[in-house]
Amino acid sequence: MRGRTTLEPVNNMHSVNKRKSVLLTVIMMLQFLVMWGQERTVIELSDDWKFHQGELDEAYQVNFDDRTWQGVTVPHDWAIYGPFDEEVDKQYIAVEQNLQTDPIVMTGRTGALPFIGEGWYRKHFRLPGYEEGQKVLLTFDGAMSEPEVFLNGRKIGEWNYGYSYFYFDITEEILPGEENVLAVKCSNMERSSRWYPGAGLYRKVQIIMKSPESVDHWGTYITTPFINREVAKVKIRTRVSGSGLSLVTRIVDPKGKEVAADTTRTIFGNEFEQNIPVADPMLWSPETPHLYIAVIEVYKKGHLTDRVKSRFGIREISYTAEQGFRLNGESRKFKGVCLHHDLGPLGSAINASALRRQLRILKDLGCNAIRSAHNMPSHEQLELCDEMGFLFLAESFDEWAIPKVKNGYNRFFETDVEQDIVNLVRATRNHPSIVMWSAGNEVPDQRSSEGVKRAKQIMEIFHREDPTRPVTVGMDQVENSMRTGFGAVLDVPGLNYRTHLYQEAYEKFPQGFLLGSETASTVSSRGVYHFPVEKAAMKKHEDGQSSSYDLEYCFWSNLPDDDFALQDDHPWVIGEFVWTGFDYLGEPTPYDTYWPSRSSYFGILDLAGIPKDRYYLYRSRWNREDPTLHILPHWTWPGREGEKTPVFVYTSYDSAELFVNGKSQGIRSKSDSTLQHRYRLMWMDVTYEPGTLRAVAYDREGREAEEAVVVTAGKPDRIILEPDRTQITADGSDLSFITVSVVDRDGNPCPTASQQLNFKVTGEGTYRAACNGDPTSLEIFHLPAMKLFSGKLVVLVQSTTTPGTIQLSVNGKGLKEGSIELQSVSTSQSGIR
Ligand code: GAL
Repeated sequence: MRGRTTLEPVNNMHSVNKRKSVLLTVIMMLQFLVMWGQERTVIELSDDWKFHQGELDEAYQVNFDDRTWQGVTVPHDWAIYGPFDEEVDKQYIAVEQNLQTDPIVMTGRTGALPFIGEGWYRKHFRLPGYEEGQKVLLTFDGAMSEPEVFLNGRKIGEWNYGYSYFYFDITEEILPGEENVLAVKCSNMERSSRWYPGAGLYRKVQIIMKSPESVDHWGTYITTPFINREVAKVKIRTRVSGSGLSLVTRIVDPKGKEVAADTTRTIFGNEFEQNIPVADPMLWSPETPHLYIAVIEVYKKGHLTDRVKSRFGIREISYTAEQGFRLNGESRKFKGVCLHHDLGPLGSAINASALRRQLRILKDLGCNAIRSAHNMPSHEQLELCDEMGFLFLAESFDEWAIPKVKNGYNRFFETDVEQDIVNLVRATRNHPSIVMWSAGNEVPDQRSSEGVKRAKQIMEIFHREDPTRPVTVGMDQVENSMRTGFGAVLDVPGLNYRTHLYQEAYEKFPQGFLLGSETASTVSSRGVYHFPVEKAAMKKHEDGQSSSYDLEYCFWSNLPDDDFALQDDHPWVIGEFVWTGFDYLGEPTPYDTYWPSRSSYFGILDLAGIPKDRYYLYRSRWNREDPTLHILPHWTWPGREGEKTPVFVYTSYDSAELFVNGKSQGIRSKSDSTLQHRYRLMWMDVTYEPGTLRAVAYDREGREAEEAVVVTAGKPDRIILEPDRTQITADGSDLSFITVSVVDRDGNPCPTASQQLNFKVTGEGTYRAACNGDPTSLEIFHLPAMKLFSGKLVVLVQSTTTPGTIQLSVNGKGLKEGSIELQSVSTSQSGIR
């Protein structure tokens, strides 16, 4: 048996559904066919794990009785099931990063979910298809955190940093023909994170069986050092184990055609180098994410001993004072967002379908870049960015030697930093999407000359491992970093906020350009508007929500408009990464002391992935394909009749006219009078009266180009369901995200509806979770009931491994039920998702 497969359980405790295993066999055979009969086997350890939360002394032992433990699949996040609790990681501190001097009691800082403590995972398995003499590796894409790994009762290793990829050679410990018992303990300390880190085996675990004469793990390094229209040189370095080996490498183009091959035997020590010309290269870019595959075969005396496939892109990057960032010879700015790794209601458990949805939404936004704040991205996310076309800033640490949180990475810095960087770079360097590394975020080490030396050492590790990409650090202490020289040693000086220091930093730093490595931190709650409408820092309202007029920010941060102006006015600002694309669990600034706030307000989209108004402000500027015309606020304000109710329009057009019930409120054009007027159209003196709000946008010639309408809603009448995909894959993990809203009798959305709704899924799918985007909600995501927030929420329906139809019905008191049917199709039938 070859190819990617799933392990069979060994006893009745782990009985598998028969249909599922037949299907898996079929899938495995299919994969066998498409993988060119590769000589190594990659097995994902996903099903039939046992999990226990809490301390245990003997759970590593082979005969430990785990029968009463909970059955789970991996990736798994033990803490996302709640409950939310104010006491979890409650902190009495002064957050230095936020310039606080006196300690305060902060709640919800790490999401108020029970991630602290120990958790044990156990899995019993046999190795299918093991061949005598094979080498066996056990790989983890990350484990939160400080995992200790035991196999058949013996400790085989441990790792400290929860975001690192790591692996162990278990050839000596594995029992090929017998039952094996794998046990993993994860431990999370309080005050170890500034956001919700998740808990447990939240990323993939795999076993790789291969010949001892094979390509090393993370052993390929593919670059494209020379490109012109006619030809690209593809340079492949391959590390192998074993002696007397030769290598055959074939290049397969994006259409699946073999376009080049190389059989040279240039070998340095245990490393081959091949330089393969590829004619008429199809270049990788966000607009044209063409991907090639290098199929690398290892031979010993004419016998094939290993075959690996590495995907790569042909593309060229450069950063210069004259041209800023260039991709394939063209300057472009980063229209980027920072993302934490949690997936809202799924917690940190990685799910490719949820990641793909995020990226689809960000494409529509016109976003072209992602920063993995503040740690190693998942492989799934990088693969999707390669495929869908996103530039990637891969970050590594939120701390070096000086702590931000008592039990953070500072505990491991001295011993682990080099290996963690090596693993990051080696595991991910073939991704064309990665165009920059980040060695850290706002590390307090910026302020000392010792920290500058540290920065240099760390940069050298990155450069040694990958000389093709520059390294940045997101700096918040910009004045200090000018003084100490910290900013000068970086390849790319990254400024977090501090918009007032851009000019000075540009002049003082030697690089000749700056990156807005973290921008905005504007705060808002979807669909919530506060009056009077005014610009304010750290504004707190009684309802625990920030106003969606997009004028509220933190005292260290700013409004989107400030960043836009810097990029528009200065060619040396090479773009920005907005804090953040999506809301995330934890860090509920400015409500860090307001319970029950437990998730962020920073997102352009809320925790459920529903756009806030700000989405349209960024879209109006970033999306150059489709026009944007968006009105805010909603127009259902019983009790506000006769009161001033400002109206903003976010649009890619330069001017628009606003009408209230047919009466013109005048034309507004973008102007330079203030930064807000430069990027938003604003009518500050509109008097509220129920009815219709209409915006008519004009093109450059003054002709009507498009109109948008918002209508006062009547009584909530019925439930509407809008799936992002009606067809999903029967692989047991694919998801459809169904946006649920309430409309009145005439179909107008009810923007303040907050009824409790109940969800029921039947057929070949399961209810996975729901999320309404309310940062103050304590409802648990995986229970099938939740209140609407600002008239909306999202339900996640997951496939089983059996194809068929799935029904979701949603009901709520006094509302006509909404229902929908989805199709789940077999993996071989499903095309692009
Ligand atoms: C930055 C920090 C982020 C987040 C953000 C909130 O200073 O790098 O992790 O805390 O502030 O505004």
